[in-house]
Amino acid sequence: MEMNAPSTRNPIDDNRTGLIGKPIDRVDGRLKVTGKAPYAYEVQEAPGKPAYGFIVEATIAKGTVADIDASAAEKAPGVLLVMTHRNAPKQAPWGPIDAKDRFARSSPQLASDKVRYYGEAVAYVVAESFEAARSAAALVRIRYEAAPGDYDMAAAQAKAEKPKDDEMQKADSRIGDFETAFAGAPVQIDATYTTPHHIHAQMEPHATLAWWTGDSVTVHCASQLLESAQNAVANTLQLSPSKVRIVSRYIGGGFGGKLPVYGDVMLSAMAARQLKRPVKTALTRQQMFHFTTHRSQTIQRLRLGATRDGRLTAIGHDSLSHSARFDDFYETASTQTRSLYAALNRLTTHRSVKLDLPISDSTRAPGEAVGMLALEQAMDELAEKLGLDPIELRRRNEPTTDPEKNIPFSTRQLLRCMDEGAERFGWRRRSATPGSLREGRWQIGLGMAAATRSNLLMDAKCAVALDRQGVLTARMSMTDIGTGSYTVFTQIAAEMLGLPVDRVRIELGDSDFPETPGSGGSWGAASAGSALFDACTNLRGQLARRLGAKPDDVVFADGRVTAGAHSESIGVLAGTIGLRAEGQIKKGDMAKKFSQQAYGAHFAEVAVDMDTGEIRLRRMLGVFAAGRILNMKTATSQATGAMIWGVGSALFEDAVVDTRFGAFVNHDLAEYHVPSHADIPAIEAVFLEEVDDKTNPLKIKGVGELGICGAGAAVANAVYNATGVRIRDYPLTLDKVLGLQARQG
Ligand code: MOS
Repeated sequence: MEMNAPSTRNPIDDNRTGLIGKPIDRVDGRLKVTGKAPYAYEVQEAPGKPAYGFIVEATIAKGTVADIDASAAEKAPGVLLVMTHRNAPKQAPWGPIDAKDRFARSSPQLASDKVRYYGEAVAYVVAESFEAARSAAALVRIRYEAAPGDYDMAAAQAKAEKPKDDEMQKADSRIGDFETAFAGAPVQIDATYTTPHHIHAQMEPHATLAWWTGDSVTVHCASQLLESAQNAVANTLQLSPSKVRIVSRYIGGGFGGKLPVYGDVMLSAMAARQLKRPVKTALTRQQMFHFTTHRSQTIQRLRLGATRDGRLTAIGHDSLSHSARFDDFYETASTQTRSLYAALNRLTTHRSVKLDLPISDSTRAPGEAVGMLALEQAMDELAEKLGLDPIELRRRNEPTTDPEKNIPFSTRQLLRCMDEGAERFGWRRRSATPGSLREGRWQIGLGMAAATRSNLLMDAKCAVALDRQGVLTARMSMTDIGTGSYTVFTQIAAEMLGLPVDRVRIELGDSDFPETPGSGGSWGAASAGSALFDACTNLRGQLARRLGAKPDDVVFADGRVTAGAHSESIGVLAGTIGLRAEGQIKKGDMAKKFSQQAYGAHFAEVAVDMDTGEIRLRRMLGVFAAGRILNMKTATSQATGAMIWGVGSALFEDAVVDTRFGAFVNHDLAEYHVPSHADIPAIEAVFLEEVDDKTNPLKIKGVGELGICGAGAAVANAVYNATGVRIRDYPLTLDKVLGLQARQG
C-alpha cells in the first residue's frame, strides 16, 4: 500500500484484542535480563573458533604515517596477522561524499598512509585472543609526520560554507523580509547559543563477528540500518550486495551512532577472508569517541522580533556546525524553526565548517535536539522581555497552517500539551521574577519548553507466515535498538490476526529478510509496522477466502476466523503447508500534503545551590502528542529516556576537543558525563490521546526522538528562573552559574 490518502478505518482502530496501546512487557525482556540475548560480540554461530582483532588508532589528527614497524607485534604470542596500509587488501575509495545513502558509502580501512582524523585506524592486529591482540597492538611502532589542521570551529568560522540543498533538506529558508521586520520590531531578542560536541554513549560498544562461506561474507554487527550496512560492506570490499549478509538481532542502543558501520566491520571481514576463519573485533569505550561518529558542536544565533503584545513578526535562526574534512553532514539545528511558530518574516540558515575532526553525523534527534536548546531558550527570553507567561507567548504564536510550507498540519496538539502539562506540573506556582523562590541555600526555579520532532514514513517490506499450529512468524530486516520494536510488532500482528502474543514470532535484524529502512529518524515503528500491517491484511484476505467469506465480514479473534455461522481455528485454515503473505508500505505523498510533526511540552524544576552553583534537577514532566501509541510502556520508556538525554545536554554532556591536537580529551564515561541515577529524580512522561490518519495506516507518529527535543531548554529555563543568570553556553555547569552571578554582582 502507498500513503497517498488518509488511512481509512482498519482493524488497528477496532483494537478487538485490546493489545494496541496496552503497556505489555517487552517480549525480549526475559532474554535480555537473563543475558541470553546474544549481541554481535556474543554470537556463538560462527563456523570455527574466532580470532580476535584489535584496532590501532592514529595518535595524530592529520598527516602521514611516515614509517610503521610491525615486526615486534608480528612476533608476539598468538598473533596471526598485522594489517597496515602496506598490506591491506585493495578496497574502493572513500565515498562518494554525496551518495544518496551516506551510510552505504565505501569506507576503506588502512587504505593509504594518510591520517584524516585522530583515532583513525593505522594498523589492525589479529590474534588468538582479545588480550593477545591488544597487547601486540601496543608493539606496533609508528612514526608520523603531522600536518597542521583545523580543529576549532569558532576559529575557523570565516571558512564556513552553505551546504548543498538536497531532497530532504534545504540549507536556508526565507519568507518575507526578515531583516526589515526584525529591525523594526518593538521588542527584540538577539542572542547566540552554543552547544558542544556530543557522543552517543550507547551501552553496547560497536562490535563485529565476520566469517566467509565461499565468496560470501556473514557479518554480525551492531547496526541500525541493515541494508545500508550491507551496501557499505559490498561497496567497500567491491562485492555484490547479494554476497553480504548483515545480522543484528539485538543492539544495545543506537542513538544514531549505529547508522553507519565502521572499521570494525570492514577489518573483521577482510581479516576473516585472509585467515580463513571467523574474526571478531570490538571497540573499547575509549575508541568509540574517535572511531565512531559524534554530534558536531553548534553556534546558533536566534533573532526574534515581536510586537508589544507578543506576536512574532520576525523569526531568524542561523546555525553553524562542522563536518569532517572529507564529509558533508551538518547539524540541521534551524529546521524546527521553520514550522514551530507563526511569523510573517522568517529566515533560517545553516552553515558548515570543514574541520580535521572525526566524522560528525546524526545523534539523538539530529537538528531539533540542539536546535531546540537555542530556540526554546530564546522564546523564554522573549517572554520575560514582554512580561508574558512563556506558555502564553507560545499560544499567541500558534500557526494555523505550516508557516513555511503553507500546508495544513496533520495533527498538532502543542497547545494542549502545554496546558495539560501546566496543570499537572503546578506551573501556576512559578514566580515570574527569577531568584525569588528559596529553600535555605537552594534557589528554586521552574522552566518549560515546547517539544517538536519531524515525523517520517519510509518504504518498507514484510513477509509473514502462518503455520498449522496457528503461529504467525513475521520477518523484516528492521532492527530493535532497544526501543521495543519486537514488542510493538508483536502487538500489531496479534491484533491483526486475533492471536495471543505468544503465538506471534517477530524475527528482525537480518539483511536476508525483506527490506526496511531500519531504525533511524524515529521512523522505525511507522515504516516497518505499516509493512507488517499490510502483510497481515493480505494474510487476512487469504484466510477469509479459505473460509469462503469476504475479508470485511470476517472476525479474527481468539485464534479463530469467523464469518457469521462459519468459524474455524486459524491453524486449521492455514492447513498443513501453512500460508504466506507479503506486505509493503510506500511513503506516497501525504508528507507533501500535510506537515507532519509530533509535539510536546516539557516542564522542569531545578534547585541551584547559591554558594556553589550546583544545579540539581528536582522533577520533570513531559506531555506529548505523537499519534496513536502502540504500547504505553515502551513509548513512555522511550520518552523518559529521551528526556534524560535532554537533561544530559543541558547539564552534563560535553566532549571537549583539545584544539592543539584535534582529539577529544575526555574520551571515556568517567570524564564524559551523562546523567546517572542520582541526577534523575522524579521524571514522568504522559501521552495525550491522538490518532493521525495522515501519517500511516497505524496512525502513529515517531516517538523515539521527540522526548529529547526541548527537554534541555526546559531545564535551562528553570535554571534562569531559579537564579536570574542566563547561560547560553551549554552545558550549564556550576562554574558558569557562579561566573555570571559574580558579573551581575
Ligand atoms: Mo537517529 S540519530 O536518526 O538514529
